[in-house]
Order: sequence, then structure tokens, then C-alpha cells
Amino acid sequence: MLGRRPLPANDDGRLLIAGNWKMNKTYTQAVNLAQEISDRARREWASVADVVLIPPFTALRGVSNVIAFDRSFLRVGAQDCSPHQQGAFTGQISVDMLTDLDCAYCIVGHSERRGLLGETDADVAAKAAALEAAGVTPIVCVGEDREVYDRGATVEHVVAQVAGSLGGVDISTGGIAVAYEPIWAIGTGLVAAPDHAQRVARAIRERLASMYGDQQARRARVLYGGSVKPGNVAAFIACPDIDGALVGGASLKADDFCSIVTNACDAARA
Ligand code: PGA
Repeated sequence: MLGRRPLPANDDGRLLIAGNWKMNKTYTQAVNLAQEISDRARREWASVADVVLIPPFTALRGVSNVIAFDRSFLRVGAQDCSPHQQGAFTGQISVDMLTDLDCAYCIVGHSERRGLLGETDADVAAKAAALEAAGVTPIVCVGEDREVYDRGATVEHVVAQVAGSLGGVDISTGGIAVAYEPIWAIGTGLVAAPDHAQRVARAIRERLASMYGDQQARRARVLYGGSVKPGNVAAFIACPDIDGALVGGASLKADDFCSIVTNACDAARA
């Protein structure tokens, strides 16, 4: 049987709630936001969820210092990485540079990078492979635009993205998270209906099972992203194949982000 295992949480049953700060917050603002979140973080989250702050590269050290100083269970992640190890790649950031700053997760293939920078599934797969080689969990983003959604072709589109974005990638070291983020729901205030998101999440897990076997597919975390707010997160977490959320705009306010985590943990325990 596919689907999330019931709590008590182990690696297979834990939620993943990640806040993608995108290109927001200067170093100082990011440190302040991380501190506010750390101050409000609740111990009981830790038994249910992995909670990850994903600031811009420039703030990774500051945010990881806050987490280390507070001895917090919060984790830090990055928004992108280079597929290359080192060398003449001006402006790029290697996986080694990220692990040196305690990054345990890294987003790859966000629709803003696919759309604005022309990243392909093959580019995403190369980055995911570099992360896996270092034991970092890739958060691979997939999702359809409005036209594909309106045609009813979401599942085929997303499943093809999963296959292409993980083609040939061994996920046994870092594990894997796949974030289903309908492009039309990102930053728009529109959200997918939970039953639609569940259908897509199930198809993602089945595709992972055919690529990696049932055990790895069960361990994979399938997230929903796109206008996640404190008031709607529980409905997604209640879906059997949705194991967490990738939160954009609402992760920039400590109160909203902490309410999302609390509500998600309550929904997972229910
Ligand atoms: P949003 O962004 O929550 O602001 O819609 C989600 C994302 O892009 O990861």
C-alpha cells in the first residue's frame, strides 16, 4: 500500500514544512525573521515535522547561526544549487558550499526558475544528483500552468516532470521531497482543491514507486505548495499522500509561518 504511514512519526511518517523566502529579506532582516520563528517554535512540532527555513544564499550563515545558537530543531535549506562541484561557474553556488553552512535541504526546479531562467528537467536532475551525492534532500518542484490544468492534463504533465527531473538520480542517500505546486496557485491567493492535490500527489508517489520501489516511494515526502496559509494547510495535510507544504509568501511572517506549522502538526495528529 502506498500513502503516508501513520504517526508515531519516524522518517517515513514525518511532515516536511518548508518556508521558501525567495528573493526577500536582506541579511539583517533574515536573521530577525529566523529569530522570531525560533522564539515562537514549539517543541511539540519536532516529534511530527521537519521545519525548514529557506532564505536567500546571502542569509544562510546568519539563519543557521540563529538555529545553532538556540539549539533549535529548525533546519536550514537553500533555494537552488549548481550541478557542478567547483570551478569557473561565476555566480553559482556548489553543494559543498551549502553543506558547509548546514543546509540539509535544497529546492530544485522551482517554477520561477523553470519559467524565468529556462531550467529544464535535465538541469533539475543534474542538481538533484549533486545534492544526493552529498546526502542533501532535494525538494524537487513540479506543477502545471493554467492551460494544462484547464485541459485536465495535470497528472500526465506532473508525472512526466517527476520522471524527467529525477531521471537516473539515485535517491537512497538524501531521500527525496517532491513539491506539487500548480503555477497558477503560486503567489496568487488561488489554491488547488485538496482532492485535486491529493490525486496529483498519489500519481507522483506511484511514479516514484515505479522508479524506486514501494519502500522509497513511501519514504518520499510529497508536498503541496501554492498560496498555503494558516487557514488552508490542514485540508492538505489531511490528504493521505500529502506530507507537508512548501510555503512562499506566508513564510515571510513569523506568525503566519508558525501558525501553518502548528495547524499542519495538529492535522497530522488528528
Ligand atoms: P506562495 O509560494 O506560497 O507564495 O504561493 C509558494 C512557492 O512558490 O513555493
